[in-house]
Formats: sequence, structure tokens, C-alpha cells
Amino acid sequence: MPAVDVRLVDVTKRFGDVVAVDHINLEVQDGEFFSLLGPSGCGKTTTLRMIGGFEEPTSGLIELQGQDVTWLPPYRRNVNTVFQNYALFPHLNVFENVAFGLRRRGVKGPELSSRVGEMLRLVELPGYEKRRPSQISGGQAQRVALARALINRPAVLLLDEPLGALDLKLRKQMQVELKRIQQEVGITFIYVTHDQEEAMTMSDRIAVMSAGRYEQLGNPEELYERPRTRFVAGFLGVSNLLQGTLEGGADAYAVIRLRTGIGIRVPRGLTNGHSEVEVGVRPEKIRLFAETADPPGDANVLDGVIRDASYLGVSTQYIVETSIGEGVAVYEQNVERTEHGSLHRSGERVRLAWSPDHTFVVRAEGEAAAPASPKPET
Ligand SMILES: Nc1ncnc2c1ncn2[C@@H]1O[C@H](COP(=O)(O)OP(=O)(O)O)[C@@H](O)[C@H]1O
Ligand SMILES: [Mg+2]
Repeated sequence: MPAVDVRLVDVTKRFGDVVAVDHINLEVQDGEFFSLLGPSGCGKTTTLRMIGGFEEPTSGLIELQGQDVTWLPPYRRNVNTVFQNYALFPHLNVFENVAFGLRRRGVKGPELSSRVGEMLRLVELPGYEKRRPSQISGGQAQRVALARALINRPAVLLLDEPLGALDLKLRKQMQVELKRIQQEVGITFIYVTHDQEEAMTMSDRIAVMSAGRYEQLGNPEELYERPRTRFVAGFLGVSNLLQGTLEGGADAYAVIRLRTGIGIRVPRGLTNGHSEVEVGVRPEKIRLFAETADPPGDANVLDGVIRDASYLGVSTQYIVETSIGEGVAVYEQNVERTEHGSLHRSGERVRLAWSPDHTFVVRAEGEAAAPASPKPET
């Protein structure tokens, strides 16, 4: 078991009447890439600022590498931060920007040059030493900011939406780069973002936040395949959710009875004791069959009519009006070629089938506190 690097115990932060962070507990492992993911205003930055020492918790405890740092100022913590507006020193060149933290510690001469050189290699910017911040691109500036933050070898690096100012293509490149750099230096990263794809690309684990609390914590696959709340199901990708009531069932699967009487089988371990639930399935897990075909015996099946087919190149997206009266989204990979692109056409009667193992359950809205906004900000 790797050591715990960062621990938050029951941390709350209030600003007047606003509860920005609401009794959060967290253990980040040494060397982990951990993300806080959630919509604007859910408390991500406040959590990060408390770990960095820029904000004091109203109550609770913060530990870094086993030491209580709750009341220590930022410079007494072995932590560094990269912000979205990373503000390089405009009058210093790239070398001096990266060297800044070392010079303050009295490092100079060959050791200074070699350590700055090592950092610039890490972020793939050798040859840019003499340039000013105004003479490099946004992506390069972000790399300099990263090198500057890493040069003092902090135990933990905090990153607050550091790629927010970059365009989509560059952001995607930098996500892969960041992951590589994190693995190379082995430093614990705590990364804040409202972009689910970004969090999923890089993170070992993700805490999905809403209104100052965790909705769910897990690795990207768990969060996507087995979301436990409507909020998480909607925040990470597209979900089809159907209302139903939990029934018994004799085997490894429980049955959720939909309004129309159709039973949907779900892994028993996912039912969580709630009786009014919503049963979910991701669009790409559903297969379409002809009206007359028989899907595999153990599959969950719904009958419907295709209302819309959109050919998107990689996949075709269908909206199917089902017998329970709700539109269900289905994504099919375009493996087979047909004259009109899509395999199925609008108006066609079809059967939807998917494995019980690809079915998840979330408690029905209203059974417990519901998140204010199920959509990520754009
Ligand atoms: N210094 C502050 N004073 C008052 N309210 C604040 C302050 N900082 C944050 N908040 C409030 O706390 C909540 C969480 O903010 P924040 O942590 O910045 O969220 P996020 O980073 O997830 O967008 C918001 O309602 C925000 O308005
Ligand atoms: Mg923020």
C-alpha cells in the first residue's frame, strides 16, 4: 500500500452563509493523479486552496505526509500550485522563470543550470531558454509554469484548471503530456477541472463534487460504468435512465419493474436498498435488433420505433421511442457499410437489448438531496 500523502478529515469551509465545502473527507495516495471534478461553484478551488494553505478551513483537519498542516502558511507546506492564469514573470526569460524558485533558495552555478535544464527537458522546451513569455505560445507558457512549479520538487502539486485557457486541440495534447510528466516525476498531483473528459483522460481516481460534497469517488471506469447518482450518470457522459421499482429476484440479479410492467435485470450489488430507483444504461451498450429477431436470452429488452438516426462518422446515434414512452439514445459503431450510412432508418420498429451487467441503478430523484444542476459548464 502506498502512503497517504494528503488527508482531509471532515473539512468544512463557510464564507458567511455560503457553505463552499461541506464535511469533506479525502485520502490521496503518494504518487497518485487525483482529480476533483464538478460544475462551477461546487467547491473545487476552495478545497485546493485549503490544501495549499491559502484558505483556512472553518472546521476539520488537513494533513500532508502525516503532518497536521491545518494552520501552517503556504510556504511551510511542501506543496506547490499551478493556477489557470499562471502569470509568468513577463520581464524574465524562460530560463529565469523556471530558475526563480531555486535562486530564492540560494542555488546557483552549475547546479542551477543543470536542474533548470532537466526541467526544460521534462516539459520538452530545450532551446527556449532565452525567450520572453511574450515570445512563446499559450501551450508553451503552460509548460514553463509547470516546470517552475516542479523545480523545487514539492511532494504535492496542486493544479486548478491549468488548461482552461487553451483551445481544445492543445488542451488534449497537454492532457497526455501532463499525465506523462506526472508519471515521470512521481509527484502526487491534485487536479481541479469541470471537464469530465479531461479528468477521465489523466486521473487514477476522481472525486465528483456537487454543492460542496462528494457525489461519488472512484476510478474513471467505476464512475462511468457504475454511477451511483443521477448527477454522476449525467455528468460523465450520456445515460438513459428509466424509472422503476426494485423487486426481489433469486439469483445474482435483482429486477427493477418499469411502469409498463417490463422487468429490467441489474447486478444485485448495485441496488443500495432504495426501492424507488432509476435504472440506467449507456447508449453504446445497447444493441439494436430487427423487430422479429430474438436477442440473447439473458438480455434486458425493450421494443421501440426509431425516431431519429444521425450519422456521425465514427458512430450512428439513434433516438428510439420505446414502449415505456421515453426516448432512449443508442450509439452504434459504423462497422458495416450500407447505402445510406446508417443500418436502421427512422420509423423502423426495433428491439433494444443490453446485458444486465451493463445496467446500473441510481436512486430516484427526490429520495435524497438532488443536485442543483446535472450539466457541466461549457
Ligand atoms: N472568498 C470567497 N468569499 C465568498 N464566497 C466564496 C469565496 N470563494 C468561493 N466562494 C463561494 O464558494 C463556493 C465554491 O466556490 P469555488 O470553490 O470557487 O468553486 P469551484 O472552484 O468549484 O468553481 C461558491 O458558491 C463561491 O461563490
Ligand atoms: Mg474553481
